[in-house]
Amino acid sequence: MANLPHPVQYQGSKRNLAAHILRFLPNQVGRLVEPFSGTAAISIATAAEQSAGNFWLNDLNKPLIELFNLIIENPDDIADAYADIWGEQHSDSIGHYFEVRKKFNETNDPKLFLYLLARCVKGAVRYNSEGLFNQSPDKRRKGTQPATMRKNIEGVSRLLKGKCQFTCLDYREVLTKVQKNDFVYMDPPYQGVCGNKDSRYFSGIDFEDFVLALKHLNQEGIAFAISYDGRLGSKTFGQVLPESLELKRIEIEVGRSSQSTLLGREETTIESLYLSPNLISRQFLDLTSYIIKAPKQLTLLEKHGHFSTATR
Ligand SMILES: C[S@@+](CC[C@H](N)C(=O)[O-])C[C@H]1O[C@@H](n2cnc3c(N)ncnc32)[C@H](O)[C@@H]1O
Repeated sequence: MANLPHPVQYQGSKRNLAAHILRFLPNQVGRLVEPFSGTAAISIATAAEQSAGNFWLNDLNKPLIELFNLIIENPDDIADAYADIWGEQHSDSIGHYFEVRKKFNETNDPKLFLYLLARCVKGAVRYNSEGLFNQSPDKRRKGTQPATMRKNIEGVSRLLKGKCQFTCLDYREVLTKVQKNDFVYMDPPYQGVCGNKDSRYFSGIDFEDFVLALKHLNQEGIAFAISYDGRLGSKTFGQVLPESLELKRIEIEVGRSSQSTLLGREETTIESLYLSPNLISRQFLDLTSYIIKAPKQLTLLEKHGHFSTATR
């Protein structure tokens, strides 16, 4: 799993956690739906394990979804375009980045976006209040070499070509369209990181809306998992999801993640994974055996705030 292809770094990517997360997902599903797909780390890992036949990748960020559509369906075109743009850096690499950024803000061209993602600081996608991409270049690096980029693009395409649906909808619309035999993996934006001071929101997502959407999934009997809040050292991000949703929470200790690096801290990051009631009823045996095998890495919280005895 460590060698899975990944074309770009992305803030909040689940690339390093995918192996842990997949341990709790169903062994076989018809379709994996990612309403917040980002760089699709969980779909890539699931495709590598051949545990889903089809995938629905959705992200509100249109150029990002268009980019993944290109990567998966037209790998040669996007790899060629990247090599061309990368090759134009000539003597003024930083100036070139700003030119590409300007052009991207005028056109929203996903090919330009790939270059920006490959070169911007820590894969952290930032927009100003007018919705213009304003992240700076990483001055120490010139961006992934075209040959390496091509290899990663081809790898992702090999895993997912012809198996995906791509949309850039609000997640709520996706959730109204999921079917009973789908499995939904949700990775909404981090709370506490993107700086919205109103605690009901996290990066534009209303907490109560989110809870309502989850309640609806439960009522429909749709299995899902959510990477939701997190802890960094003693600090907890995010509002706790209500007990009425009957979710089980797994804590995965991830060491110093890209998240803590981004925040410039040394603490250990704990990532929470919430499992829906009908996922739990399918997965219970696997869950128990994993906790016994890896007691130091994982903690099962039976209810919010109460650790199960076997784990610490
Ligand atoms: C934490 S990232 C997902 C990372 C992903 N799991 C990965 O491995 O790269 C959250 C994503 O949610 C997207 N997003 C934010 N608000 C959204 C919304 N209302 N509906 C759908 N997607 C949204 C962001 O563009 C971002 O790509």
